[in-house]
Amino acid sequence: MKKFLNLCIIIALAYACCGKGNSLEEKVENTLSQLTLEEKVALTHAQSKFSSGGVPRLGIPELWHTDGPHGIRPEVLWDEWVQAKWTNDSCTAFPCLENLAATWDRELSALYGKSIGEEARYRKKDVLLGPGVNIGRTPLNGRTFEYMGEDPFLASEMVVPYIKGVQSNGVAACVKHFAVNNQEVRRTGTSSNVDDRTMYEIYLPAFKAAVQEGGAWAIMGSYNLWNNQFNCHNERLLKDILKGEWGFDGIVVSDWGGCRDDDEAAANGLDIEMGTWVDPDLEVEGASNLYNLYHLANPYLERLRDGRASMEDLDDKARRVLRTIYRTSMSEEKHFGSFTSPEHFAAGRKIAADGIVLLKNDGALPLNIPQGGRILLVGENAYKMMTVGGGSSSLKTKHEIIPLDALREAFAGKADVIWERGYVGDTTTDYNLVVTGQDLSESRSPEQLLADALAAAKDADQVIFIGGLNKSKNQDKEGTDRLDIVLPYGQDALIEALAEVCPNLVVVNISGSPVAMPWASKVNAIVQSWYGGSESGHALADVLTGAVNPSGKLPFTMPFALADGPLKTQRQYPGIKEEGKQWWQEYYDEGVFVGYRWYSSKGIPVQYPFGYGLSYTTFELSGAKLSASSIKAGKEVSATIMVKNTGSVAGAEVIQLYVNDEDASVERPARELKGFQKVFLEPGASAKISFKIKPEHLSFFDADAHSWKLEPGDFHILIGTSSENLPFDLPLKVS
Ligand code: BGC
Repeated sequence: MKKFLNLCIIIALAYACCGKGNSLEEKVENTLSQLTLEEKVALTHAQSKFSSGGVPRLGIPELWHTDGPHGIRPEVLWDEWVQAKWTNDSCTAFPCLENLAATWDRELSALYGKSIGEEARYRKKDVLLGPGVNIGRTPLNGRTFEYMGEDPFLASEMVVPYIKGVQSNGVAACVKHFAVNNQEVRRTGTSSNVDDRTMYEIYLPAFKAAVQEGGAWAIMGSYNLWNNQFNCHNERLLKDILKGEWGFDGIVVSDWGGCRDDDEAAANGLDIEMGTWVDPDLEVEGASNLYNLYHLANPYLERLRDGRASMEDLDDKARRVLRTIYRTSMSEEKHFGSFTSPEHFAAGRKIAADGIVLLKNDGALPLNIPQGGRILLVGENAYKMMTVGGGSSSLKTKHEIIPLDALREAFAGKADVIWERGYVGDTTTDYNLVVTGQDLSESRSPEQLLADALAAAKDADQVIFIGGLNKSKNQDKEGTDRLDIVLPYGQDALIEALAEVCPNLVVVNISGSPVAMPWASKVNAIVQSWYGGSESGHALADVLTGAVNPSGKLPFTMPFALADGPLKTQRQYPGIKEEGKQWWQEYYDEGVFVGYRWYSSKGIPVQYPFGYGLSYTTFELSGAKLSASSIKAGKEVSATIMVKNTGSVAGAEVIQLYVNDEDASVERPARELKGFQKVFLEPGASAKISFKIKPEHLSFFDADAHSWKLEPGDFHILIGTSSENLPFDLPLKVS
């Protein structure tokens, strides 16, 4: 009873101070006017590993933050990274964001956001630390799997519905990592030196869309520096661009330990400081309860008291934090959320399956197995659970269906599905006290593993290799980058050996980033699958059996070799140490030539291009036209094209529109994605697809004028089904 009365008093206090029914801004101002200096400062920094301060005197709750971005992280101890071992926090693991991006489906992004937002709300989290939209500058970035591809337009279009979906639950999406945080090597001590044109054309658009179109309530500052100032308090990035030019009214949250300086933290637009490593000795143990020592705690109070920090800046921070609290835990709309519901698992399965990319198929897929036949799976990833590991996105999920079990389920009563490991990759089965329960120990030698796989292949009706990367060091993992794009653990040799004995070999690569496939011409089908979360195995089985017709498209280029890419020097990647400079220096000398912009402009052949992906049906595109042959500033032109499903099964195609500027005054990429539509068609059915082409789609960023520039001249509107298959070339004049 006493507890209940206390709760009533707290709620009454909170409503009395905010004035129920007032507008958001009135509530914020009203509350702000009642706060003491100390109370305002308490809003601006952590009070535990994943929460930041509220105002207990007024019944205003603290903000609870959680990773993100693929599911709701298991609870950790109050002051530590260590998992708290709760028994009721096993979540739905959703597919990795690269998998989502590969769907090229805005509706699925909305479904993802709504579902993960419901899980966050149920778990009483106010700020979801995600999604991530750093552009895939190098395939080596250990966190590629947490991002949405190499193209700013694709990432922008995909991030907006995710944010809206999350926030419809009264949970703030915290878009990360702002900005140019494109590698894990020395991520807390490298300055990404990038010019304005490259920033505005490549690395900022997805964040801008997140703010202006998605209405994101939170942004996470990244660990690295941009042009030699730390991004968690980078004046240009946060004050001029984010809060100035884009009008962002939410909170800037530091990455955990990303705040590095008292003065800058106070003055340069950081609103909440999280995870600072106050005592390096304690951090080694993962513990830090010295929240009063944070840059934005006692040192900030002292600065405010003696006039070194401005009260207006403090009010701005406090106002933003209060606004976020009123938008989330104190929102007048009552959100309750839901957790591990059948709908969430179904959403995960659909997204995972629709993002799987069919790279090659000479008829081996969908599987056609004789009754009573034998299917052999070879490769560790047919068995290994992948939701555990990889860094802060690691999850504790209620269930994870592995490919082996899913295929056994799919072929129950029809065929035997057996498994041979073939190689040993990563034998760990735990991360931060979360254990998968699998036993991945292995006593056989590599030679024996190979011999066993080859022997089993002889008796199989169908062999499917399921390998790729995993979430361990130097693979798809936070904190380290990959060392090459070659498949690890001798998988190339194993695939080649299998190809020699199998007349019909299917290869499934499970990864979150590009890999080289030197054996591509020797195998019969290739499938790019991803870390698909709880329902990963089901999603893969759906595609292999044909229950789902693949419709994913690559969100990045699959080069033949790392050396083909744009990063050629140490100064480009991973950075150099320069005389007189405190931090490592990295220069984005390639400018806007990132991903397919590089390969297509330089005419470098790639293994599989950006935007590419096959289907079990065929599509025919015809009748592409523009509504006008010229465009003026301030006007729009539309492009239309017919698409027909000419095969015998239903399926979806992604029609893509790229622009080319024939004679620009600056060097521009040969093509840039500016439109896409995913369309689902029954066999024989057609649809008319239309795109709006706006002057901004044709412009480049003029750094001197600090504005987008539309130059008169000849342009080409290129339409097709990948960045390298653009059969329709429609001339357009800018007058
Ligand atoms: C990561 C963030 C994450 C945070 C909290 C950091 O190390 O870079 O992405 O949200 O930890 O776990």
